[in-house]
Order: sequence, then C-alpha cells, then structure tokens
Amino acid sequence: MCGIIGILGKAPVAQRVLESLKRLEYRGYDSAGIASLEPNGALERRRASGKIINLEAVLASAPLQGHTGIGHTRWATHGAPTESNAHPHATEKVALVHNGIIENFRPLRARLMAEGHRFTSQTDTEVIAHLITSHILAGMDPIAASEAAIGELEGAFALACIFADAPDLMFGARRGSPLVIGIGDGEMFLGSDAIAVAPFTQTIIYLEEGDSAALTRAGARIKDDKGQPVTRPRAQVMGAAAAEKGNHRHFMQKEVYEQPETLARTVGRYVDGFSETVSIPDLGALDLAAIDQIFLVACGTASYAGRVAEYWLESLAKIPVECDIASEFRYRSPVLGPKSAAMFISQSGETADTLAALRYAKQAGLPTLSVLNVPQSTMWRETDCVLPTLAGPEIGVASTKAFTAQLTALAAFTIALAKARGTIDADAEHRLARALIEMPRLVAQALQCEPMAQQLGAEIAKSVGCLFLGRGVYFPLALEGALKLKEISYLHAEGYAAGELKHGPIALVDENMPVIVLAPKDPLFEKTMSNVEEVHARGGKIILISDPPGHGASEHLNVRRLIIPSCDGIVSPIVAAIPIQLIAYHTALSRGTDVDQPRNLAKSVTVE
Ligand code: M6R
Repeated sequence: MCGIIGILGKAPVAQRVLESLKRLEYRGYDSAGIASLEPNGALERRRASGKIINLEAVLASAPLQGHTGIGHTRWATHGAPTESNAHPHATEKVALVHNGIIENFRPLRARLMAEGHRFTSQTDTEVIAHLITSHILAGMDPIAASEAAIGELEGAFALACIFADAPDLMFGARRGSPLVIGIGDGEMFLGSDAIAVAPFTQTIIYLEEGDSAALTRAGARIKDDKGQPVTRPRAQVMGAAAAEKGNHRHFMQKEVYEQPETLARTVGRYVDGFSETVSIPDLGALDLAAIDQIFLVACGTASYAGRVAEYWLESLAKIPVECDIASEFRYRSPVLGPKSAAMFISQSGETADTLAALRYAKQAGLPTLSVLNVPQSTMWRETDCVLPTLAGPEIGVASTKAFTAQLTALAAFTIALAKARGTIDADAEHRLARALIEMPRLVAQALQCEPMAQQLGAEIAKSVGCLFLGRGVYFPLALEGALKLKEISYLHAEGYAAGELKHGPIALVDENMPVIVLAPKDPLFEKTMSNVEEVHARGGKIILISDPPGHGASEHLNVRRLIIPSCDGIVSPIVAAIPIQLIAYHTALSRGTDVDQPRNLAKSVTVE
C-alpha cells in the first residue's frame, strides 16, 4: 500500500526521492508527495493526486533544493485521493509521511483544534504533525516531541518526520507497519521497504516492532518499544536491479518468465537432489507427527495456493485441512483442537488480515507455520516456523512467481508431513522429489505457450466475461485464473468447480462466452470432459488447457487448445498456472489496462 522514503543527503534530494517513489509505485497508490527542508529553513511540499508523473510535473515547475527530504505514495483510506489529503502533512515545525491508520485520530484532532491548530486535510495522519508541533511549542526538542506524540497514538504506523529547526535530523518509528533504515556514505535513509532505499545503499537495518529511530547523517540511534537504546543488526539487501524491468515490457511479464529460476531456487530449499528426499529446514520445536489438523489461512491468490494444498495434504498426508480466507478466520470462531496447527501463506508477510489471523492462532496456543516471500516481514518475525518461498521481490501487483513458489513450498511441506505421518513410503518420496526437481524445466516448456496465449488474450479481450472450470486441484486454479484476469484486465471472470456448472453458471454460456477449462489428463479428466460437452452443446467458446494425453483424448471436440507438458500430479497445478498467467497478461494488454498497477489495487494490503 503506501510507500515511504526519507533522505538525509549531501546534495539536493528531491530527484532521488522521486526516483525512490517510482520504485514504490508497485505497492499501489493514488497520490504522491514530497517535502524538503529548504535552504531558507522552511519546510516546503509538492503534492499531486494520481500518478507520480503528475508530481514530477509539479516539481519541474516548482523545484525543491533541500538536502533533507521525505516522500510518500498514498493509497487512500481516510479522505479521498486529493492533493490536500496527499502526504507529506506538515506544520511550520514538522513534515511527515505515514503508512497505517491512526485509530484515535478523531479525539486527538478535536483536542488539537480546541488548542487552536488548523487542519487542512481529512486524513488521520495530519493529527500526528499537529501533535508533534504542540509538544515542540511546549518546549520539547523534536525527538522528545516525536516520542511523546507516538506515545499518544493508537493504531498502526510507520513514520518518517523532518523538522524545520533540525536540518541534520530525521525521526522514524514503526508500530504495525514496516520501516527500514538505509546506511549510506555520510547519508542516511528511511524506507517502507528495502526496495525504497536499494538504489542508494545496500546496507540496511530492519526496525523491529515498536522501535523508533533518530537519524543524523552520522548514524542512527534506535530505541525499542520500552524506550531503551538498542542495537539492531545490519543486513545486506539485494541489488537495485531487482526492481528493474530489464528487457520486459512489464514487471508481471518479467516475473512470469523468472519462474523456472525462482522455482528451482525454492525446490532447492526443500529437496535434496542427491538423496531425492524432502525436508523442511528450521522446524524448531515443531513435531510434524504430532499435528492432527491444519488450518490454512491466507488472502487472495495466496488463499488459492492454500486450497490447492488442501487437496495434496488430505490425499497424501491424510490429515484434515480447513482452508480459510484470513478476513473470515478469526471472526467465525473456528474450533481449534489441541493438536491443530495453523499455516499462513503470504507473499508480503504484511497483509493485515493474515497477520491478524496469525496473532489470533498464536494467542490460542496453536503452533504457527508461514509460507512467506519477503524476508524479515512482520509475519516472518512473529511465526514459529517460516517456510520461505525464494521468488525474490515481486513488484507486479498480480501475484505470479510468488504463487507458484507458494505451491512449491506447500508441495514440499505435504511430502514432509506425509513422511512424518507414515502415509507415504520412501519410494513415493523419491518419486515426488524427482517430480519437484523436474518441475522448473517443465515450467520453462510451458512458457512456450505464450504465442497461443497472446492470440487467445486478444479474443477474450473482446468478450463480456470469462469462465474458468476445473476439478480437483484445478478448481482452485480456476479461481486463481479468474482472479488474475479480473484484476489486471478488468474483465468479469468467475472460476467454478466443473461439476458445479449445471447448478447455475451454465446459464451464462452462449457463443460469446469464453470458457477456459483446466484439465490435464488425471483420474478426473473424463468427468471434466462431460462438463466440457455440456458447454460445447450450448455453443460456448471452449479453451482447453491440457497436456498431450488430455488433448489426444479429446480430439473429437472442436475446441481451442493450449498445450502444457505432462507431469506428476503434485507439480501439475504449478505448470498449469503458467498459461492462465499469460492469458490474463495478454488479455490485459489487448484491453490497454495498467498491468503492473491495476486500478484500486495495492501490492500489500496492510489495512483490514
Ligand atoms: O502479500 P499477500 O500474499 O498476503 O497478498 C495476498 C493478496 O492480497 C494477493 O495475493 C492479491 O490477491 C494479489 N493481487 C493477487 O494477484
């Protein structure tokens, strides 16, 4: 969602702040702004609603010269995405940017207004600027004033503040939203993630929950949630190139094409190619054999990864599984058994609902495991056991390489659990391990379907909607196909279990309705084909995604065909994810939508 960058620099910083904001665009936003402490000692702001290009135009006509500056991309929560609601918010004393939501902003605002403070926005954030100012006016120095102010806030925040009378100071604090410090050569940075500061420095410090930090050009003084000075470890971040598109037109396309590599990396984490065995490193105190039920909890695409895993876990590890959408989990009073474990799936590791569900499960005393992509994210720190997906930074809002990496980690977990529960023997483990090892090569082969996906995308783009059908593991994949298409092409799409078709959705089928059927040859193939016949009989435009045996067995049908390689059932949904990603991508291209930053969406959804 919102993005933060702050720079204590040696030269004017506005252009670098702007550069960083462009890297943060992937998080989703609807306005942006910059503040700098100008050479005349005044805090000045430039803000614009809409895309960063609008802010760039404002800056071109009214440049900023300060060596100390902050910038923000805002995803509106309180107040419309207008210029006056855009961050930074400021008084004569302080300018600040904020990610998160201040829950008690109304009483604070009323109190400050009664004291004579004038507000110019409808945001919750502005109250923080006035609160700090009121403490400064009462005689506190900027650090003490900021610390006092955050002590009065309820809710979630990551903050970066600069001050009119302190050119060598930037104050940061995190509670509920991540914040990193970047350490440069005589310069210091604050960012909402490592990507924000990656062009300027590779050395960062992840602030811990409740930390605050006073930065000068010489270094950072960090305090923990009790106000005690602490030292946090330094980390090296990946090169700035991770947030570049390379030769690709969009991040999404780049990320789709990275999959053979990201999947090989993820497989390497869990599978020993020499012994053909599967294990989960760093399980800590968790005894897999002692678990008798698993809750799989996530949002959006990650929840569909969980629903695929539900089929694997029940059939291979013979364990009862309940899949939950995170925003529902803790409100439905789930019955958690003494031997239940809860597993969370999240690319960002910051999704508010999934994080809240994780905390709920921990409080209930369940062992927690999380499949996560962003190292050191909040969930990474709070879960008992992390199963990393080594997909690297995912910038496109549409999740692609993170989804297939989640499936890979979940497949490995299934095999390890089945082994621990004695539901598979060594031969089965070796066979499944070989299937995982082989899978990245098959994904590379599946990418060759792009020309066909392009043709189909151009046709689907002209339709009024699209249906996705599948049975077994291909049912959640059908849901994922529909989500991918909707979110980036804005075309209405639905995913259904193929057997559900005649219970309602078949009414939508006519000669204008594309129906994408996911049906590699498996034990349910013939049943899915019966459903295909039903669509065929009603003139629906069928697109069959299958492997060579599946296409062979359906030769008599007049359908459009997209071929993926044959593979073991445990990896088949991973390989079959490629064509649905490419179809969504090309449909969106044909419709001219914003593929990487679709309207109204944020990469990481940090509010409930
Ligand atoms: O970061 P997370 O994996 O927790 O995010 C969950 C969803 O918000 C995410 O998968 C979303 O549905 C994507 N836009 C789908 O492409």
